[in-house]
Amino acid sequence: MYTQAMDLSRESSAKTATDAERAFEARIAADRKVEPQDWMPDAYRRTLVRQISQHAHSEIVGMLPEGNWVTRAPSLKRKAILLAKIQDEGGHGLYLYSAAETLGTPRSQMQQALLDGRAKYSSIFNYPTLTWADVGVIGWLVDGAAIMNQIPLCRCSYGPYARAMIRICKEESFHQRQGFESLLTMSRGTDSQLAMVQDAVNRWWWPVVMMFGPSDAESIHSAQTMKWGIKRISNDELRQKFIDATVPQAELLGITLPDPDLRWNAERGHYDHGPINWDEFWQVVNGDGPCNRERLQARRDAHERGAWVREAAAAHARKRSERAHPAAA
Ligand SMILES: [Fe+2]
Ligand SMILES: [Fe+2]
Repeated sequence: MYTQAMDLSRESSAKTATDAERAFEARIAADRKVEPQDWMPDAYRRTLVRQISQHAHSEIVGMLPEGNWVTRAPSLKRKAILLAKIQDEGGHGLYLYSAAETLGTPRSQMQQALLDGRAKYSSIFNYPTLTWADVGVIGWLVDGAAIMNQIPLCRCSYGPYARAMIRICKEESFHQRQGFESLLTMSRGTDSQLAMVQDAVNRWWWPVVMMFGPSDAESIHSAQTMKWGIKRISNDELRQKFIDATVPQAELLGITLPDPDLRWNAERGHYDHGPINWDEFWQVVNGDGPCNRERLQARRDAHERGAWVREAAAAHARKRSERAHPAAA
C-alpha cells in the first residue's frame, strides 16, 4: 500500500508532510512525473483512482456494443479486425486497472463499484448498435473522440497513467482508421449502404460530441485536475479540436453531420456548432440511457460466470506458494 503514513517518520510527521508537499508541488511545477512511491496529497490520489478506474470501466463496458456484431460481421476480414479491436479494448481496461492499483486501491474494489452501479463509465457506451454501420461509426467517431481526449493524457503528471496512455493511444489510432476505412467502403457502395452510414452518423454524432463532458464552466473537477497536470486541455477546447478534425472527414465520406448550425467561422478559425442537449447527457450519465441496465447486467453476468476462474487462480497460487515454502504450509 502506498499511503502517506508510510512515508513519514513518526517523530516529525508534521514537518515531513510540509516538506513532502513542497516536493510534490515542485515536481508538478517542473513537469516531472509523480511515481507510486512518491508522497502525494490524498485528494490527488483519490482523483486519479476515480479517473483511471472510470477510464478502465469505459474500456471494458465499451467492448459490449461492438461485441454485439462479432457474429454478424459481413466478411472474415471485418470479423478479424473487429475481434482484434475488441481485444485491444479489453487490454486497455486491464492496463488501466493495473495503473490505478499502483495508487493502493485493489482492483476487486474498483470492479465492485462498477457492478454495484456506484462507478461511472463513458456515457457513449449506453447507446445501442443497431446496424453494421454503427460498428464503423464507433471506430471513426467514438475512438476518434477518445484519441483527442487521451493524447494529452500521455503527458499526465502521474507516471503509470501517462505510460499506459502512450500504448493505448497507438492502438486507438488503429481503431479510428479501421472505422473510417470501413465506412468509406460502405459509403462508396450501394445507395442503401450510404444511407445506412448516414443513419448511424445521425444517431451517434451528438452523443459523441457529449463525450468530452460538460462545458468548462460547469465541470466541477476541471480546474483542480488542470492545476495538478492530470488534465492538460479543457473539455470545450478538445471538443472544438474534434469537430474541426471531423468535418472534412465527413465530407470525404459524402455524408452530412446532423447539426444545422455547423459552419466554418473564418474569424475564429474554427467550426461553430449548435447547442448540446445536456439534459440527455446527464440522464445517460445518471443511469437512464437506452442501454445502461443492459450493460451493467452483462458485466454482472460475466463476473458471476468468471467466479470459477478466480477461484481456480487463487487455488493455483496457494498451491505454488505452498510448494515454494513447504515449512510454512
Ligand atoms: Fe480503448
Ligand atoms: Fe478503441
